Amino acid sequence: MSTPDTFLQIPANTGRETRVIVAVNESGGSVKTTSVSALAAAAATEGLLVLAIEADSQRDLAHILGYDDPDADENIATLWDVVDGLATLDEAVIPARRGEGGPVVPGLWLVPGSRKLKELDDKLSGTMLREMWFSRLMPAVMGRFDVIFIDCPGDLKLTTKGALLADKDRVEVMACVKSQEKEARALTELESTLTEMNKAFGPLGINLGIDWIVIGESVSHESQGKVYSDSEAQLREAYGQLVLSPSVRRSTKVAEAYSAQTALPIYAPASAPAIEYRGIAAGMGLTKETFTA
Ligand SMILES: Nc1ncnc2c1ncn2[C@@H]1O[C@H](COP(=O)(O)OP(=O)(O)OP(=O)(O)O)[C@@H](O)[C@H]1O
Ligand SMILES: [Mg+2]
Repeated sequence: MSTPDTFLQIPANTGRETRVIVAVNESGGSVKTTSVSALAAAAATEGLLVLAIEADSQRDLAHILGYDDPDADENIATLWDVVDGLATLDEAVIPARRGEGGPVVPGLWLVPGSRKLKELDDKLSGTMLREMWFSRLMPAVMGRFDVIFIDCPGDLKLTTKGALLADKDRVEVMACVKSQEKEARALTELESTLTEMNKAFGPLGINLGIDWIVIGESVSHESQGKVYSDSEAQLREAYGQLVLSPSVRRSTKVAEAYSAQTALPIYAPASAPAIEYRGIAAGMGLTKETFTA
């Protein structure tokens, strides 16, 4: 029987298959963190064991999952501490919570980001095999979770490249976009970065492509009684099945959940965006049935 205490400790390594889903987009504010927190919580609610790793100095993911300032808490190891060798990645895993100091979210864990991660690109730039920085950390958490999400900063530099190379056999690239015209351009940019990476790392078995596209803040307009979203239609035409359904509509619940420091599907499970994110999670196969099949 699971008790809340069951979810305080990191799950044991049972050698289970672990999916690794990396949220990327070269532009900031493109709903990566909102999508990671919502999909991770949706998957945990389904009964999966889920880890969300924050590779961003903004610490929005830690905030949403119940930790406002991980750098200030000496009992918490951040991803920066792991990079610095002060902890291993499994040692930095903490339970997600509903609000600061609140009850744990069953099945959902976090490796918090740090404001020092701003310096990570510079720190890595002079090192050997610098793009492989993340893959060296991953064995400590593989086999313990059904799915690991990695939330990246809003660029495609070394930090993000490391996340994309976190596990050569398992990484799924999840592009997160708002339904605006510039988003299609951002996807083209991402595709060319992935092509470059495949050229450079192909000999190591790397073969990356966009696996999923989440439209995370969809705005539509009404004309003559019909609802249109032209740029969303263009994305769906250009990328077909890669674009997950439904899109997540703009909703004030997202900001409310952020203020409450609680992942949206836990904060407001019956809200439209929570239902939409659960639909997307199902489309990605993040359900108990998929994992036990
Ligand atoms: N469906 C939505 N409705 C309303 N606001 C939303 C929705 N989704 C995301 N937002 C808001 O959009 C902003 C950007 O979202 P988010 O922080 O998820 O983007 P990001 O890609 O992680 O950004 P960054 O690159 O800065 O890390 C946030 O203020 C978030 O609350
Ligand atoms: Mg973010």
